[in-house]
Amino acid sequence: MQFEELLSLFKRRGVLWPSAEIYGGTAGLYDYGPAGTALKRRLEAAWSSWFVGLSPNYHLIDPAEIVPEAVVRSSGHLAHFADPDVTCGKCGQHFRADTLLEENGVADVEGLAPEVLGRMLQEKNLPCPRCGERALSLPRAFNLMFGLDFGAAGKERAYLRPETAQGAYLSFSRMWEVGRNQLPLGIAVIGKAYRNEIAPRNVLFRMRAFTQAELQIFFDPENFSVPLDEVAGEELPCLRAKDREKGATEPTPIRAGELVSSGGIPSFYAYHLAMMLRFFRDVLQYPADRVRFLEKNEKERAFYNRIHFDAEVRLDSLGGYKELGAVHYRGDYDLSRHGEGSKTDLRVTPTGGKTVLPHVLELTFGVDRNLWALGDLHLRVETPAAASGGAAEGGQEEKEPRTVWALPPYLAPMQIAVLPLIRKVHAAKADEVAERLRREDGFTVVVPLTASVGKRYAREDELATPFAVTIDNQTMQDGTITLRERDSRAQVRLPLEALAGRVRSKFVPPRPTFRA
Ligand code: GAP
Repeated sequence: MQFEELLSLFKRRGVLWPSAEIYGGTAGLYDYGPAGTALKRRLEAAWSSWFVGLSPNYHLIDPAEIVPEAVVRSSGHLAHFADPDVTCGKCGQHFRADTLLEENGVADVEGLAPEVLGRMLQEKNLPCPRCGERALSLPRAFNLMFGLDFGAAGKERAYLRPETAQGAYLSFSRMWEVGRNQLPLGIAVIGKAYRNEIAPRNVLFRMRAFTQAELQIFFDPENFSVPLDEVAGEELPCLRAKDREKGATEPTPIRAGELVSSGGIPSFYAYHLAMMLRFFRDVLQYPADRVRFLEKNEKERAFYNRIHFDAEVRLDSLGGYKELGAVHYRGDYDLSRHGEGSKTDLRVTPTGGKTVLPHVLELTFGVDRNLWALGDLHLRVETPAAASGGAAEGGQEEKEPRTVWALPPYLAPMQIAVLPLIRKVHAAKADEVAERLRREDGFTVVVPLTASVGKRYAREDELATPFAVTIDNQTMQDGTITLRERDSRAQVRLPLEALAGRVRSKFVPPRPTFRA
């Protein structure tokens, strides 16, 4: 789906809107409405079910969003977490130097030092994209963290966390105490991260407050066994750094087993790339041919990473591949830096093993970016001929093209719509049925009342509601309902009592079959 179309549908249907909109909006901040909030919660639950489900020794925690300065000094964010900022001397607009160069046809500039980018900009002598004057400054490193004056005296320096990962590192020794004294130990965090982005844009893609879901796996580098054989045949669409240097732009499928045997990638890393692919393909149901893993070279990688593949998905609304997550092998960087900074020995001795400072494998996932991708990839316009099934009972379906948001049912904001065929006659019964489905079965249920049944189906299709139940005269007589399935539009009549059993399992997100 195209950008404007998607954004307008999201706003119209209560998925999201700009924050503080009545004041003109705030760059880089968005609010989720009821449909967006419900979808986000379900996306987080699906992520958690999959990734925390990788091992019984993986746990979800909820650490503080504010970190004292000592933490970001040790983590390296105070010194290094910066983007190259360029300002227009004429109109005052700020730009990222690397983005400016990329937009003007210069490739592979990510991670270059501000001085190098400055020389490239001078050679190009680019005009300001906003006002057209050739008055751009040289780049300066701009730290992306939001600093806070903490405490009543305002003298303690603190920061909004720039990544959720830090909370997991800070909790490591506590988690070791409360856990099973075993490696690997996984600590997952789902929550807000804050970055003072120079040029927020593309709605949920470059925000200043956004939600990350990150799993930090702490492991012994000499002893991290994974069931690689279970995924060895999985074809991973990889764009390797060495191939990019030779000009490749498209991924080449490589089996997970081969990535290890001939690709120089450790088995624990290849295994988790495969599990990330399965999450995108089997859980979020992104078309497999739109996913790729792009390997970052040494210049491009964040300062803490040893191996880094971004998980990217091709989106029509944003005109190409976009990063939605990543797998980072961070080595022992985090625990050694925090160990030194806090003067705490973070080495551990697993039961029956030797003392080790654990390494970290990070699986990171942008919740907001994926929420956008779920709209881009699963919203489609269907002409009546293209839609299979159709109105079996009563010819209530619209004959016009419909927009359907074909989300997997376990991600849909609302699970069941209960529609009274004639409002005046059937509304009370519809309310009674809806309440029963909520109370006895725990479903999220909506009772749309306005417009014809066909239009109400159409509205629910656009909101991804996977099942619609129609209440009519026969329901009043014999307690049966008509169940309509969103994607096929097939309708069946069945006793109300049979409904929950028929749909319940569709609302459970998949869990991984194999455990690390
Ligand atoms: N802990 C590692 C880390 O934070 P990152 O690549 O900076 O790595 C991880 O961010 C993920 O967070 C990205 O893959 C992306 O999905 C999401 N993300 C990063 N910056 C974002 C922003 N400004 N707005 C929305 N999502 C963002």
